[in-house]
Amino acid sequence: MNTLQDLFLDALADMYYAEKQLTKALPKMAKAATHEELREGFEAHLTETEGHMQKLERIFEIFGEEVRTKRCPAILGIIDEAEVLMAENKKSPTINAALIYGAQKVEHYEIGSYGTLREWARLLGREDAARLIDEILAQEKAVDAMLNKLAMGRINQDAQSEGMKMAA
Ligand SMILES: [Fe+2]
Ligand SMILES: [Fe+2]
Repeated sequence: MNTLQDLFLDALADMYYAEKQLTKALPKMAKAATHEELREGFEAHLTETEGHMQKLERIFEIFGEEVRTKRCPAILGIIDEAEVLMAENKKSPTINAALIYGAQKVEHYEIGSYGTLREWARLLGREDAARLIDEILAQEKAVDAMLNKLAMGRINQDAQSEGMKMAA
């Protein structure tokens, strides 16, 4: 029989794996970005992502558990898709728009997962763990908003108009 705490710890292990994969993907995305603010955004989120791993480690500790990791096929799929997009749009005016497209899928995956985990931590009576998850969640939401702002600010428009210029 699986308890809610088992399910919670399992999901935590899944997210620990996901964050670890993202610490490898984000430097590649930063390197591929030709828009300076976007590159800096990816670099800053890499630092935050390392912090997310540390927070997850503290949550395992709160629950008196060893840090666990569980292969997360969902994040591997999202990252794989982002890498294909990166390769396909390399040297194209669409590269930054493509990077944001991939990155927002990652952030939304994280936002959905951590929203659930925070509520479970509360139900399990661990407000301290819920607070840590809430801190992670706030950073995922902030980076998602930053990506939106950059996309709508110019990056999507530039992808469109530079492509038109090149085609002309
Ligand atoms: Fe994260
Ligand atoms: Fe993130």
